[in-house]
Amino acid sequence: MKHSFATQIISFVFLLLFIPASAFAQFAPPPIENGPWLFNTFEHENVKASIVARGLNVPFGMVFLPGTQTDENPMGDLLVSERQTGFIRHYRDGELLQDPVAELKLTFRLLQLFDINLHPDFSENGLLYFTWIKGGDNPDGTDDLWMTTAVSRGRWDGEKLVNLKEVFEADAWAAHPGGASSRGLFLPDGTFIFGSSHRIERQAPQRLDSHIGKTLRINDDGSAPADNPFYAVEGALAEIFTWGNRSVMGFAVHPQSGAVWELENGPQGGDEVNILRPGANYGWPLATFGRDYDGTQFNDVPWVEGTERPEVFWVPAITVAGMTFYTGDKFPEWENNLFVTSMMVGRIPGTGHLERVVFNDNGEVRRESMLEELGQRIRYVSQGPDGLLYLLTDHVDGALLKIEPGEVNQSKLDVQYLELSEQGITSPELFTGSDCMLCHRVDESLIGPSFQEIAAKYSTSQSNINLLVNSILEGGEGNWGDLPMSAHPNISATTARQMVDQILGLSTQ
Ligand code: HEC
Repeated sequence: MKHSFATQIISFVFLLLFIPASAFAQFAPPPIENGPWLFNTFEHENVKASIVARGLNVPFGMVFLPGTQTDENPMGDLLVSERQTGFIRHYRDGELLQDPVAELKLTFRLLQLFDINLHPDFSENGLLYFTWIKGGDNPDGTDDLWMTTAVSRGRWDGEKLVNLKEVFEADAWAAHPGGASSRGLFLPDGTFIFGSSHRIERQAPQRLDSHIGKTLRINDDGSAPADNPFYAVEGALAEIFTWGNRSVMGFAVHPQSGAVWELENGPQGGDEVNILRPGANYGWPLATFGRDYDGTQFNDVPWVEGTERPEVFWVPAITVAGMTFYTGDKFPEWENNLFVTSMMVGRIPGTGHLERVVFNDNGEVRRESMLEELGQRIRYVSQGPDGLLYLLTDHVDGALLKIEPGEVNQSKLDVQYLELSEQGITSPELFTGSDCMLCHRVDESLIGPSFQEIAAKYSTSQSNINLLVNSILEGGEGNWGDLPMSAHPNISATTARQMVDQILGLSTQ
């Protein structure tokens, strides 16, 4: 079989993944410093990042163990997977235990270990699922690598992972891992969804008789759920949930809509977040905003008929590696924000970071990068049982990091209030601490109507005041055009009424 030059280079790059990590020393960023680090974000000042544990060998995924949280230790204990060693490590009582709780290479022909996930009934059955790359004998009779994606499980007995068992082997055999990832997630209906990478195959991701380049959905025993989109389709594999996916780096269920969001590594400039619809085609490799690693375009157009467009994409690529929605109570201003980890930006080492993407009902409204100063590849982000954010760095001396809130940051918002007072608008502090000025200005319409326009439209009659108070609290109804205003559940009715008084007061100025 003839390979193009670009394909050979890509194969070479992916084969590098199997070389011991020490050989990477020259490419890898230096180990993380000891911290802690204080940093500022749009809404918070002096947010603190600190190391909880280090000495994890290329960690990939983690789970917090239910029932281990106490008042003194609200994070509790956790288990972490290590990609290259195939170990699962135990962080217990504030300490990373040296001995792994599972050495999966002893049981399985495991080349790389990826994500770990708790079964929804973990508290009763102790089952822990993990995704991995399984080696096999190359059918051409050579010693060349031959591998597919597999899902296995074990039972956590409190000390060790026992009763190890393979649950599912994907029909995705190829000579290279292609993306070297498989993230998994148990959906609210109890089924398990996971990624099966593209394996550098160009045809297979677009064929329904292959598990290559797909997201797959199985029952906890490995069987295909009867409501899978291609379950009864002749010639299609029953486990396929979506197709044309390149290399899945994360799944998260949206906290409000319940939709399954998927994070995927593209080629250069092709990293994307998709909202998964069962049976939909996400286009790889026909449709992508990215280019091959040698710079060539995959296609003349970034989108083709019959494929889904991404919800978010990155140019240049940030080498996405993990994602979660924030739903805790420690950063109320970040509620439902999407956090995505980056290993490096634009293929420049040492530029990994954490990204925060803010959405309203229409789509993305803000994006912010943080933690670049660590200079680390950030592999994973997860919300702890204590409502804090936890990260894993991708390094042979990998670290578990914790992010804690500082003070709510008024300074950025205050700049806009300053502008207001320069315009002679008094008492701008009325809006301090809320997000109004992101979308409103006093005398020009921005995302929302200007406050002067609002004042001109509504008289100061009692019913209008109540109506406006209500729209601030509950969100706009689209009276001003296509865009509704998001709800402000954190604002008290009294404050909202003061705001309305002030806005309506502008009409007399
Ligand atoms: C994310 C952007 C955004 C933010 C943040 C925002 N608004 Fe709005 N606002 C809008 C849009 C868009 C409209 C028009 C909505 C509509 O047509 O109903 C609007 C409309 C309004 C209206 C008129 C409502 C009506 O029924 O006619 C008021 C009053 C208002 N905003 C006040 C505020 C105040 C006070 C805040 C801060 C607490 C705020 N807005 C924050 C986007 C925003």
